[in-house]
Amino acid sequence: MSSFLSTPVESKVEEDIEYNNICQKHNLLLQTLPKGNGWRVQHLYNYNGFWLNPNTVKNNLLLHTYFKSLPTDIVLVAFMKSGTTWLKALMFSTLNRDCYTFSNHHLHNHGPQSTFPFLDCESYPITDFTSISVNPRLFATHYAYTLLPACIKSGKIVYVCRDPKDVLISKWHFMSKLRSKDLPPLLLDSAFELFCQGESEYGPFWEHVLSYWSASLEFPEKILFLKYEDMKKQPEVVVRKLAAFMGKPLTADEEKRGVVMDIVKLCSFENLSNLEVNKKGLEKFGRLVEVEKQDFFRKGEIGDWKNYLSEEMKERVDTITNEKFVGSGLRLGATV
Ligand code: A3P
Repeated sequence: MSSFLSTPVESKVEEDIEYNNICQKHNLLLQTLPKGNGWRVQHLYNYNGFWLNPNTVKNNLLLHTYFKSLPTDIVLVAFMKSGTTWLKALMFSTLNRDCYTFSNHHLHNHGPQSTFPFLDCESYPITDFTSISVNPRLFATHYAYTLLPACIKSGKIVYVCRDPKDVLISKWHFMSKLRSKDLPPLLLDSAFELFCQGESEYGPFWEHVLSYWSASLEFPEKILFLKYEDMKKQPEVVVRKLAAFMGKPLTADEEKRGVVMDIVKLCSFENLSNLEVNKKGLEKFGRLVEVEKQDFFRKGEIGDWKNYLSEEMKERVDTITNEKFVGSGLRLGATV
């Protein structure tokens, strides 16, 4: 497997001019955008309807300028804490199932984040990702559909959504660990309020989900819409769907050999969270963000929100969800 190490964009001089223009545009933009409360850093900015931290605003500009897509690209998208890590492992191991044995697999020695690039952090030097020679190329992002460059929308997208109550709790835990030490701790009550108002990184949650849900109805052959709860209940069904969607359906022989269950077991929470490689060390996201690898694995359950949210809080989130999703045909929770 070739790595996705960045290759500097060819012309250094041109790059600098273009890059500096983007930095300037970014600085001006931040002065005009509505400002909200950040979970990790002090402020979020509302960029075309979605709350982003200042660096992901800048990276969105960079992505639109530099990213060179291929028609065969497949992009994994999820709202933060909806199952990105798990789906990364599943997509990678399903697509590359001929390259490794399940007793000696890339994922035994490398975390799921290493399998393919995350597009939301500024890489240095700037990369257009043209050096990746595998086909299809896989990428991951948290950006809402409307914030994606058109070239990404013309390729295939795998989207995963999760019960917003579990997303909120998972995100609160995760962001509390990453939160700048210069800020006071983010209390659950405050996080809850912000989340309900849509004010959290990449939010509003509901508009994010709906942006992909509507697109998946319009372009079903291009967007595979999955649910975390279905993945938990019947992961083998999801692996078969993924394989077919990525253009590599399971063969009768593979079914006979139990390849689907091999993938499911390899990528299970129990297996991945107990691997040494996922227990210690830092994962770097661009130059600015470092995450303890173990923080990508917390409980991996459906319904942990019950340990944190009152009945009233549950009702509030469910009411927002029902009101936002009315008429869309989308129902959260397991469908398989
Ligand atoms: P919890 O905090 O509820 O445990 P993301 O990868 O998008 O950041 O999402 C993280 C959430 O997915 C965390 O949820 C994490 O524990 C869970 N997760 C990570 N790997 C998983 C796996 N293999 N199976 C199920 N859930 C997993």
